[in-house]
Amino acid sequence: MGNNLKKNVLITGASSGIGRAMALMMAEMGHELYLVARRRDRLEELEKEIARKVHLLPFDVNDPKLIVELQKISAGKIDVLINNAGLALGREKVEKSDFADWEKMISTNMTANFRMVHTVLPWMLKNGEGDIINLCSVAGHYTYPGGAVYCATKFAVQAFTRVLREETCGKNIRVMQISPGMVETDFSKVRFKGDEKLADMVYAGMTPLTSTDVAEMMVFMLSRPRHVVIDEIITMPTDQGSPTTVSRKES
Ligand SMILES: NC(=O)c1ccc[n+]([C@@H]2O[C@H](COP(=O)([O-])OP(=O)(O)OC[C@H]3O[C@@H](n4cnc5c(N)ncnc54)[C@H](OP(=O)(O)O)[C@@H]3O)[C@@H](O)[C@H]2O)c1
Repeated sequence: MGNNLKKNVLITGASSGIGRAMALMMAEMGHELYLVARRRDRLEELEKEIARKVHLLPFDVNDPKLIVELQKISAGKIDVLINNAGLALGREKVEKSDFADWEKMISTNMTANFRMVHTVLPWMLKNGEGDIINLCSVAGHYTYPGGAVYCATKFAVQAFTRVLREETCGKNIRVMQISPGMVETDFSKVRFKGDEKLADMVYAGMTPLTSTDVAEMMVFMLSRPRHVVIDEIITMPTDQGSPTTVSRKES
């Protein structure tokens, strides 16, 4: 990006939260969108809201068929990747955790995220330009009890992004990362497996970031002139000092 031309933007995890907010902003700016998520109905609702044709890819990011379909419909012309699909499952300590939850976090947050880069990076190199923003987290910088595997996946995203940045240096590929603290999305509902009470408690008495706050920062990163890379933005609500330090007002 870095100029006003229409770009082909691929967003994973576009059916909700940060990815959805980013899709709306990119649509407003007139870009061509390729939107990935498992929930087709949510993607269709979003397309209605955008009120023009967008390319919907209703796939699990772990499904190799996604890559085949993406190649078919985009013809390898992806200018911007917002590598956002991800999740946390559970808040139990290691010995009490469900191993299936670990496998899902590792495959979605790491393997599928890395594979998306493996797919689009050769296209970007061939096209001579590209922007990648990986969704990391403050959990990729700080650890906290009950977050062993989620933190491990986000530390891995951080390592992958850094290597990628070094490897693509000088190739007109901007590799960036954004690491938010608490953002009120469906993230906690997913983490607590639909338990709305537990999810609401996460944000009780404090003002979290919104998905629009995070999307605005990504738009800022993308809209810098091409010789400028913002390696990373780490952003938290004013009420948060670290994953474990949150200031809450008594209700
Ligand atoms: N919210 C926070 O506090 C926070 C903080 C730091 C980082 N993050 C990161 O930000 C990213 C977005 O999270 P969010 O807060 O916007 O949560 P969210 O509202 O739950 O959105 C997550 C998105 O990822 C998609 N997704 C999850 N698993 C998928 C899969 N296997 N295949 C395809 N799509 C999948 C979901 O779509 P479907 O369910 O329709 O597939 C949804 O669109 C994640 O990587 C998360 O780790 C969030």
